[in-house]
Amino acid sequence: MMGSLTAALLLLLLSAAGINAQTKLQVNLDSPDSIKSAAKTVAANLWSYYDGYKPGRTPGILPGPPPGGDYYWWQGGAMWGTLIDYWHYTRDSTYNDETIRSIIFQADAPRNAFMPSNWTASLGNDDQGFWGMAAMLAAEVNFPNPPNPKDPGYVALAQAVFNTQAERWETSFCNGGLRWQVPHTNGGYNYKNTVANVVFLNIAARLARYTKNETYAQWAEKAWDWTEGVGYIKPDYNVFDGGHTEHNCTDINEVQWSANAAVLVHGAAIMYNYTRAPKWRDRTAGLLNRTIEHFFPEGIMVERPCELPDRVQCNVDQHSFKGYMHRALATVAVVAPFTRPTIMPVLKSSTKGAVSSCLADGTCGFRWNTGNYDGDKNRGPAGQQMSALAALSTLLLDQEHVELGPLTNETGGTSKGDAAAGIGDYKEASPMRPVTVGDKVSAAFVTILVLGSFVGSLVWLGAGWGEK
Ligand SMILES: *[C@@H]1O[C@H](CO)[C@@H](O)[C@H](O)[C@H]1NC(C)=O
Ligand SMILES: *[C@@H]1O[C@H](CO)[C@@H](O)[C@H](O)[C@H]1NC(C)=O
Ligand SMILES: *[C@@H]1O[C@H](CO)[C@@H](O)[C@H](O)[C@H]1NC(C)=O
Ligand SMILES: *[C@@H]1O[C@H](CO)[C@@H](O)[C@H](O)[C@H]1NC(C)=O
Ligand SMILES: *[C@@H]1O[C@H](CO)[C@@H](O)[C@H](O)[C@H]1NC(C)=O
Ligand SMILES: *[C@@H]1O[C@H](CO)[C@@H](O)[C@H](O)[C@H]1NC(C)=O
Repeated sequence: MMGSLTAALLLLLLSAAGINAQTKLQVNLDSPDSIKSAAKTVAANLWSYYDGYKPGRTPGILPGPPPGGDYYWWQGGAMWGTLIDYWHYTRDSTYNDETIRSIIFQADAPRNAFMPSNWTASLGNDDQGFWGMAAMLAAEVNFPNPPNPKDPGYVALAQAVFNTQAERWETSFCNGGLRWQVPHTNGGYNYKNTVANVVFLNIAARLARYTKNETYAQWAEKAWDWTEGVGYIKPDYNVFDGGHTEHNCTDINEVQWSANAAVLVHGAAIMYNYTRAPKWRDRTAGLLNRTIEHFFPEGIMVERPCELPDRVQCNVDQHSFKGYMHRALATVAVVAPFTRPTIMPVLKSSTKGAVSSCLADGTCGFRWNTGNYDGDKNRGPAGQQMSALAALSTLLLDQEHVELGPLTNETGGTSKGDAAAGIGDYKEASPMRPVTVGDKVSAAFVTILVLGSFVGSLVWLGAGWGEK
């Protein structure tokens, strides 16, 4: 009796160990070929959550927005950015055609500024900006240009985002800055937050470097000065979340999301590369130092505000943040080479953690510091997939074409620009119809939409209060 039970138990343990070893994603992080092959598996897994290529589905977006699916509009932009980087680092062009089609589709002709009326209810400057940053990246890495010559170039798309946002800069509250939301009817319109302003800074900095038009650099300076001046960027380089117009932006929500820090350190490093100014070098170094200390305890990334030691309370959006950080840091290492010795070991140890959370079929977890898949699949598996894919891809930065850095109009970038893109006689996005009973019935739904869009949920979590 006893003997056979022990034997049975042993067998069970052995097979469990066997399954475990077998079902983990195997990758040798010292081998570019092994990294590429693992990345390909994770990319295919990411793709399985996207259905916009199917007949009758909307190109460019992950299923959503809630309750129609888990993902908000901006995450589509984030995914294309991740896949553009995936191509850049691996040269696997499997997803290129759908990437081009999606970006052009969601840019929404004729304005081509990523403000489609479908998504007005969740149109934040940050949401628009994530699409803009994907377009800017496409230009910087010489992603294949849209085949139809009538379609806008990637630089023109980023310029359209920049131009529409520069027009929204507003000095009557808090002495400047961008509001979080675009339509004044959206909850959160009274929130002037970091992400809206640092995404704008990021795009402005990259346009300055790409086009050598000094106007963009001046805007990047202005966005930094305001965000720092209002107290969202602290002298110790902690990056806080935002404040409200009715309090002159002094009611600062001190929650620290990695997405804010990632977008900002990337923008600062680009400004350093473009200006070579000691001030931007100091900012890059300071932000990097604080970022690594805060978000990479023991060398593995942790989304601190919601990934707690005993539980994870991150929402779908936040489940995608780690990838933005890895991608940003890889670019910082290239455009500010003095940071490279600091960044590379961290990217590597954190990716090791990421990979240890993945199964052989490329399903990856959110927690990267336990050595195992966490089974966290109900809050946006696409975010986990994007993050692991970004971590793997960016380890391939030791390649000549990557070392060259983001291209510019003078160093081989071929994307078409249009300095006047996006501005002119277009209607500003806002719900145009008067409020009806039907609208009131769906008001709760709209609230969820708005709060669920990117930072709304961040704010909720961080301070326990909503924006409405
Ligand atoms: C807007 O929604 C309609 C209806 O679902 C869809 O046909 C169209 O493709 C969408 N446009 C964009 C830009 O998402
Ligand atoms: C530089 O950018 C500004 C801001 O968009 C624009 O008004 C100006 O025309 C640009 N200059 C050139 C030479 O393209
Ligand atoms: C609002 O804050 C800014 C600094 O961010 C300050 O310059 C301005 O004087 C303040 N305005 C009021 C009315 O307190
Ligand atoms: C950050 O700066 C402090 C003080 O200069 C230094 O001791 C620490 O090693 C730095 N951390 C990183 C990650 O560079
Ligand atoms: C700017 O970036 C390039 C890579 O694109 C790099 O070679 C160069 O050293 C950087 N410049 C500075 C001042 O760090
Ligand atoms: C790049 O430079 C060429 C030649 O000066 C110019 O015609 C073109 O508009 C520039 N493109 C961008 C995106 O600035």
